[in-house]
Amino acid sequence: MAEVILKNVEKVYPNGYKAISDINLEINDKELLVLVGPSGCGKSTILRIIAGLEDVSKGQVIIGRQIVNKIHPKERDIAMVFQNYALYPHMSVYDNIAFGLKTRKYEKNEINRLVTETMEMLGIDEYLKMKPRELSGGERQRVAIGRAIVRHPQVFLFDEPLSNLDAKMRVAMRAEISKLHTTLETTMIYVTHDQTEAMTLGDRIVVLDNGDIMQIADPQTLYFKPENIFVAGFIGSPQMNFFEGNIENNVFKCGLFNIPINCEQIPSDNIIIGIRPENFSLNEGDISINGKVDLAESLGDVIYLYVKTKNDKIIILKTDGKRKFVLNENITIYANNNIMHFFNKEDSKRISM
Ligand SMILES: Nc1ncnc2c1ncn2[C@@H]1O[C@H](COP(=O)(O)OP(=O)(O)O)[C@@H](O)[C@H]1O
Ligand SMILES: [Mg+2]
Repeated sequence: MAEVILKNVEKVYPNGYKAISDINLEINDKELLVLVGPSGCGKSTILRIIAGLEDVSKGQVIIGRQIVNKIHPKERDIAMVFQNYALYPHMSVYDNIAFGLKTRKYEKNEINRLVTETMEMLGIDEYLKMKPRELSGGERQRVAIGRAIVRHPQVFLFDEPLSNLDAKMRVAMRAEISKLHTTLETTMIYVTHDQTEAMTLGDRIVVLDNGDIMQIADPQTLYFKPENIFVAGFIGSPQMNFFEGNIENNVFKCGLFNIPINCEQIPSDNIIIGIRPENFSLNEGDISINGKVDLAESLGDVIYLYVKTKNDKIIILKTDGKRKFVLNENITIYANNNIMHFFNKEDSKRISM
């Protein structure tokens, strides 16, 4: 059993900076949990606390039902993979993977068996004599992963392991890590700032901002029911468009469009409506907005269309790649009520309609 539990964990660094405040998290045995959030939100701090590389200022860390606050990193039975690989440059691939086993005094035959099995699993057995500098980024990261999994630890921690790889290799390695999780059946905690990586990998995703948990949910829930404006803006690319307005006589008005609101319990007059770029259409809808084409970015199959409204607001929408757009062309865009997200401007929380 290796569930990982953080109870009311807070971290204040020696310089007085509070990196995380009151984090509560339960990571199930054998789960692949992803932590995602912008740079500086406290992702690495949380991982380092689980690994034992940082002390907590408050709270408890529990691994496999044992409180580990006072337990040395070496005794926690955890392996961590970093963005910069952290391989020993003078050692061969084989020795890099075998290193942790040697320092733990494994027998020579056992080391050989484990290292060989690991290299075969990761498809790096042909590189066993090479040095890290002779390998590509993707191959190096495989070696780093090999070094982590060779001991069969209870928990794997990944800290942005794919950030240094090119886009194609990132997609390939992402799929490999997902398969590895299925094969190894071990608890994994994976940190990334990249929402696509988070969405494709995680059974459950924790969205963090500024040291706080914003939402914990599966990818569909994060996308369709973001709990607050931060998650709504962070998940999805290009970003959701937001429209700030007021309710008057059960009608939302924002200067660009009006829509009737039939909800009994609107908590505030100040409402923000969110509409995703993919939910606009050029044909019809419950609301319409007029504007001019400001920019059309073609990705081949889709176009990201930037529309400038009369009050100089830019709205981004996704449309299929076939239509041609001319700069400053007049255009009307449409959206339906049922795809709009409603937020309370005061506390930025989602309003359920
Ligand atoms: N040793 C440290 N001393 C002081 N502040 C730190 C230290 N390490 C990290 N921080 C700060 O804590 C915040 C969270 O850092 P980190 O967990 O590394 O974020 P992330 O991994 O999400 O980018 C950042 O603002 C960072 O500058
Ligand atoms: Mg980090």
